[in-house]
Amino acid sequence: MDARSIIAQVRDRIPLDGHAAEWFARGLASGEVTDAQAGAFAMAVLLNGLGEAGRVALASAMRDSGKLLEWQLPGPVIDKHSTGGIGDCTSLLLAPALAACGAYVPMISGRGLGHTGGTLDKLEAIPGYRADVPVEELYALVADIGCAIVGATADIAPADRRLYAIRDVTSTVESIDLITASILSKKLAAGLEALVLDVKVGTGAFMKSGAEAEALAKSLVRTANDAGCRTMALITDMNQPLAASAGNALEVMEALATLTGDEINQRLWDVTIALGAEALVLADLAESARDGADQLGEALRSGRAAEHFGRMIAALGGPVDFVERYPDRLPAAPVMYGVHAQQAGFIGAIDGLAIGHAVVHLGGGRLKGGDAVNPSVGLSEIMPLGEPVEKGEVIARVHAATEDAAERACAAVVKAMKISAQPPEIPPLIPNRVT
Ligand code: URA
Repeated sequence: MDARSIIAQVRDRIPLDGHAAEWFARGLASGEVTDAQAGAFAMAVLLNGLGEAGRVALASAMRDSGKLLEWQLPGPVIDKHSTGGIGDCTSLLLAPALAACGAYVPMISGRGLGHTGGTLDKLEAIPGYRADVPVEELYALVADIGCAIVGATADIAPADRRLYAIRDVTSTVESIDLITASILSKKLAAGLEALVLDVKVGTGAFMKSGAEAEALAKSLVRTANDAGCRTMALITDMNQPLAASAGNALEVMEALATLTGDEINQRLWDVTIALGAEALVLADLAESARDGADQLGEALRSGRAAEHFGRMIAALGGPVDFVERYPDRLPAAPVMYGVHAQQAGFIGAIDGLAIGHAVVHLGGGRLKGGDAVNPSVGLSEIMPLGEPVEKGEVIARVHAATEDAAERACAAVVKAMKISAQPPEIPPLIPNRVT
């Protein structure tokens, strides 16, 4: 077997069998498959699809490209994973909140992908934070603190680590087969008992329509349940950034404000509670979603979730007083501009893809593999859909490394945030649930 013939097979729509998937995943992990071959494979999959059997074969082969974690803990091992969005810092609240409710959460996360943000890039905005930890340290952290948000190390699903980075820079992200294999390779390797998926839909998501999001949710839920991990999905709205910030340090700031109760972002709170409640039910830690929501609300309001978060940050190399002093501990960009409404009206539509690209171009994401991310740049105070605005009012703030970059981002945001004469219809925050 060799990479060329496997790529040709997918190009010619010949079903991918388990052996070919295994060979390719092993080759991704060992380096025998080159970057060019991985990019060509990803494009062939994106254009032609793999079919259900091929998708399961690729997810299983990528899972088996590294270590499979095994847990011996007094509570259930669970997680949540998102398909990627803008201003989505839910993981930063949810992992510690679930830990405070008695679950164990080894959250193996990714970096920014395409125009979307990545949890690891956000956490690495915290000075000293180490996202790459060996498996032994992950076991110890989860047992001690209840949660750890880390990267997929060389040990866990290494095939995905490589393919993920290549997809990011070859416009091959938006494929149901590749997203399913990518997410589930990591989640199944993590030895989870239960998993909740946050499948984003809308202008800022990889899946733009409800039908596409539902197809992705069904693919993920079916593949994960077949592999023995109790899984369900919520489809959540990404027709506007989830929180009011997009950018690494800025999102950490907003997540911490909600986590500590300093300033609660309601949409972020609602999505966190909805996903967490489902996770607690799947894990048999709650009798109903209502009960789960109550438990999570208490964990957040009492400060117990924040306490777990603070211990996790300190254990992974961040400041020991991060939860108390987060505004002083996060890097700030040197240039800040307001984006002004060009006319009066309402925030009528937000092009999430354009907002995501604006953040990437500010330096908050990567345009090519290996690019360094600037943690301090991005957007804040992004007005939500339906908000009334006066001409000249600030509808978002740009945080940039240079004045030129700030000006370009302001122009992009003005274009991305349409002002309408009438208030728009606001899409529901959680339009669907897939089991
Ligand atoms: N998250 C992942 O881990 N992989 C994807 O392909 C998309 C989102």
